Amino acid sequence: MSASARRSSGPGLIQSRPLDGTALPARHSAPRSPKRSSPMAQTNTRVFSGIQPSGVPTLGNYLGAIRNWVPLQDTHEAIYCVVDLHAITVWQDPKELARQTREMAAALIACGLDPARCTLFIQSHVHAHARLAWIFNCVARLGWLNRMTQFKDKAGKDREAASSGLYVYPNLMAADILTYHATKVPVGDDQKQHLELANDIAQKFNHDYGVTFFPLIEPLIQGIAARVMSLRDGTKKMSKSDPSDQSRINLTDDQDAIALKIRRAKTDPEPLPESEAGLEGRPEARNLVGILAAITGETHAGVLRHHGGKGFGAFKEVLAEALVAHLGPIRAEMNRLLQDPAALDAALRQGAERADAIATPICDEAERLVGFLPRK
Ligand code: AMP
Ligand code: TRP
Repeated sequence: MSASARRSSGPGLIQSRPLDGTALPARHSAPRSPKRSSPMAQTNTRVFSGIQPSGVPTLGNYLGAIRNWVPLQDTHEAIYCVVDLHAITVWQDPKELARQTREMAAALIACGLDPARCTLFIQSHVHAHARLAWIFNCVARLGWLNRMTQFKDKAGKDREAASSGLYVYPNLMAADILTYHATKVPVGDDQKQHLELANDIAQKFNHDYGVTFFPLIEPLIQGIAARVMSLRDGTKKMSKSDPSDQSRINLTDDQDAIALKIRRAKTDPEPLPESEAGLEGRPEARNLVGILAAITGETHAGVLRHHGGKGFGAFKEVLAEALVAHLGPIRAEMNRLLQDPAALDAALRQGAERADAIATPICDEAERLVGFLPRK
């Protein structure tokens, strides 16, 4: 059991119930089948991930997450979600939110998600997410949430003014995953802490209610660019919510915008080093080398073998060209999809129906375990 789960105790009555005398499965091991047999708990190869429609998807989203979601469609039952409930934890203009939600769905499809091979939908269309999140609000401890670095970053100095939704955001994220009994979650490196919390919540629920109902989640953090940094500051992650558009490459940027942003990207005055060790203490150089490596399928060392010794002027030309060639077709496909919003909406509605068929029975069962009377 994790430290945080151990620290907080559930209600005495339930706690006194023995759990077979065994600890819950260790982190990252395959989930055991639940004590109370329920058909949906048998799946242990389900993948779930989500992305917020809080702006235009960035190169960071693409390299750190979306691109890694694509191959999982062929090896797993893959469920992907545009998380609009998460987006409103910070203010979103309603018209913009609607537009960005469609745009994000189009971007995901343009990057290679195929609504016929995966389940792709909008979070608010499947009510199980919000229902299970409420239960998890009552399972997670304040002490656990207080440690979340994303909350601290996003709330900034004036924490009192942050929405309560922003604070309990990780509980909703846990519900997103666990209402599908998904066990593999491909995300960028920044989400690791939230997934650890989701495991703490799953364990505490299982413990408090004396069941092995929710499986353990394993983060899939893949790729050389699990964390793409801002083009203005190599120590900050590239983010769709950064006030400076110059800090990021958007998947909607045209070739001139990409070239200009790369040309203006912050660097240091030294030429590129010949080997990876030379990137030490040079976050901007490391970031640009990492981006080219991720785009061309090379390693940092491979990129430096080709370009070590070059000044940034010449290197940036190469990088911009590679990005334009890679992102151009994605942008074109996105624009094509956005020309037919009715078709896009229909695909998302179908996705929501498929998602609902999995999520609702699991959420119903969680409510039954908690002691809620059945609706039907
Ligand atoms: P968000 O933009 O916060 O909705 O994140 C969606 C997905 O993109 C998550 O899996 C993040 O981990 C990933 N992600 C976001 N920003 C970056 C970044 N700068 N580098 C790598 N992955 C990222
Ligand atoms: N919190 C994630 C982010 O900001 C988005 C997200 C919401 C998510 N629910 C999820 C990711 C469930 C993986 C699984 O990037």
